[in-house]
Amino acid sequence: MKKRLFSGIQPSGEVHIGNYLGAIKNWVGMIDRYDCIFCIVDYHAITVEYDPKEMQNRIINAAAVNIAAGLDPNKCILFVQSHVPEHTELAWILNTVTPMGHLERMTQFKDKAKQHRDNINAGLFTYPVLQAADILVYKAEAVPIGEDQVQHIELAREIARKFNSRYGEIFPDPKEILSDAPRIMGIDGKTKMSKSRDNYISLVESSESIWKKLSTAVTDENRKRRTDPGNPEICNLFTLHKHYSSIEQIERINRECRTAEIGCVECKKILYENIIKALSPIREKYEELIKDKHSIIDILHEGAKKCKNMAEITMAEVRRQMGL
Ligand code: ADP
Ligand code: NA
Repeated sequence: MKKRLFSGIQPSGEVHIGNYLGAIKNWVGMIDRYDCIFCIVDYHAITVEYDPKEMQNRIINAAAVNIAAGLDPNKCILFVQSHVPEHTELAWILNTVTPMGHLERMTQFKDKAKQHRDNINAGLFTYPVLQAADILVYKAEAVPIGEDQVQHIELAREIARKFNSRYGEIFPDPKEILSDAPRIMGIDGKTKMSKSRDNYISLVESSESIWKKLSTAVTDENRKRRTDPGNPEICNLFTLHKHYSSIEQIERINRECRTAEIGCVECKKILYENIIKALSPIREKYEELIKDKHSIIDILHEGAKKCKNMAEITMAEVRRQMGL
């Protein structure tokens, strides 16, 4: 039997190349070897301010982008979190075995609390408990994620063990799986690429817009003039070259940047060409899919039906063991 795999993506903005290199690409590579469940996590997305009128579109867009990027709905389950309310039922139960102190240590909570000072709500605080429920309600063992989520999966493991020791063995230990690009930096060069910061390149962005962003992207900040030698090791865009450019191009840039033979503009043009080449098939597929929103909604409902069956079985077991 294949191991079950679970991972989620927020419908909170555009899916970016950080999501792709850090997570989605890895998901696509595992789709045949695991029993895969991918979730559009709308319950998570509502922990920060959002426009309710936009949410349905964001969910459908997230689904379409992920399918276009390779999540073939014939090979995996793709669904929307709120279509299976068992996630929140289990989250409440898991809240009762989660120490407050552990949640207070979560760096993502600290970051988001800083970013959303006027709306530090209890949902933002217990976000990792809902995430544990997302995984455990399907008894998933493999959780492919980016580095930002590792602390949450460690907590999910602790929660599963705490529950098991108190009420009997129900949940397996979920384990994180990191891609070879677990932390892609934003094009501002300051923090990780993220939907909530305007520092990303979307998977379905127009070529003009990608060039606009790349042309102003931060490189080695010590390289002030064209004639200054640069250091690719501290250049954010060199990391992207490693994912999108050929070995020959990477070697040339690594050499000629250090001697100022190649300038940042030329280097960015090479990266631009390669990113466009890699992203156009995804964008074209997305544009095709998004013309027929009903088909996407059907795929999501189909996925939810399968998940609901599995989640109901787990919840019956949980309630029985807990005397509920
Ligand atoms: P975001 O952080 O942009 O809101 P999500 O929370 O929807 O994105 O994350 C979806 C997946 O993408 C998660 O597995 C997350 O760890 C991964 N991910 C997000 N940002 C990055 C990044 N900059 N580099 C690598 N992986 C990332
Ligand atoms: Na994230």
